[in-house]
Amino acid sequence: MSTTTTLFDPTEVGAWRLHNRVVMAPLTRNRAPDAIPTDLMATYYEQRASAGLIITEATAISPTAQGYADVPGLYGTEQIDGWKKVTHAVHRAGGKIVTQLWHVGRISHVELQPDHQKPVAPSAIRAEAQTVLIKEGKPEFQPTSEPRALRSEEIPGIVQDYRHAAQNAIAAGFDGVEIHAANGYLIDQFLKTGANQRKDDYGGPIENRARLLLEVVRAITEAIGADRVGIRLSPVTPANGIDDADPQPLFEYVVKQLAPLHLAYLHIIEGSTGGPRELPERPFDYGALKTAYQMAGGKGAWMVNNGYDLPLANEALAEGADLVAFGRSFISNPDLVARLRAGGPFNKAHRVTFYGGGAEGYTDYPTLDQAG
Ligand code: FNR
Repeated sequence: MSTTTTLFDPTEVGAWRLHNRVVMAPLTRNRAPDAIPTDLMATYYEQRASAGLIITEATAISPTAQGYADVPGLYGTEQIDGWKKVTHAVHRAGGKIVTQLWHVGRISHVELQPDHQKPVAPSAIRAEAQTVLIKEGKPEFQPTSEPRALRSEEIPGIVQDYRHAAQNAIAAGFDGVEIHAANGYLIDQFLKTGANQRKDDYGGPIENRARLLLEVVRAITEAIGADRVGIRLSPVTPANGIDDADPQPLFEYVVKQLAPLHLAYLHIIEGSTGGPRELPERPFDYGALKTAYQMAGGKGAWMVNNGYDLPLANEALAEGADLVAFGRSFISNPDLVARLRAGGPFNKAHRVTFYGGGAEGYTDYPTLDQAG
């Protein structure tokens, strides 16, 4: 009898029983005017509820955490009420959904900040990156603004914002949260030498650069329970102009510290987010990362992402991954699980409708049944 695990086998992850191992990766879609989730968003997520787990688009934990036009938040009552429509729709359809908690740090623009203040960051170093404003209904890419360095005494307030947003997530009916510590946003900016030149307890050696991440994880797990919390890491992606001088020991330290905290899952972006999985100039040993986590007693599910298709996903499961997150293919295939099971065909994603707009390129991709 074969004991090979497939993408379609159910599994227990933290507090959840998942129908399968296919995860919908977090995907910013810029369709939440005033940061409030809409009925259209509820339809979009409900269409994708056959995923074992949905991770929502990144969601701002406070007004200053915002870095792009029309992304949702989770710090006010109207936002909680908006998200309730989404979580109810997904649960009605039999799915599970967590929200990705986000502080963009320096990846923002003064136009998106309260009173047009500078965005906050570990250090006052502008990112070589762009953000998206929406002008006359169309996405417009703009260079990010110069940030200001957070004062040491402001950091507890940021941690408190994360805790509060996690509590709001539970109030909104989410099954849990994913902490966004990837892709060059605030937590990743603290982790990596390219963005962090602080001289206080949050800069310098690895233990200091990882301090904010661990404080956020502890605050959130205390508030909502570790078995409802996952974290996303991207050791080597250059996304949003981020870089670290020596990522292997940094991330091995991080996962060893996470091991005793009993998170539901670790979500690892391999290579350059949305780009090559191998970066010759930034080699990284993901097997060693996983070993470091497990040797330290880490028992959370191991979720992998970036450029996965069915054969590559099967290979990852055979090598011991527990979950595989799919991004772009979930944009264009609401019934991705059924299509993977059938071996295709797959709809192509249209880039022009990724960021901003309405139903077009959002809720109108056909399922296999609709395609006839
Ligand atoms: C993304 N990605 C992303 N990542 C993240 O952590 N939070 C987010 O909000 C977003 N938003 C987002 C929007 C769009 C339109 C794209 C294409 C990507 C990255 C995404 O989760 C994933 O890591 C990449 O797309 C790589 O996975 P795939 O697409 O190769 O399966």
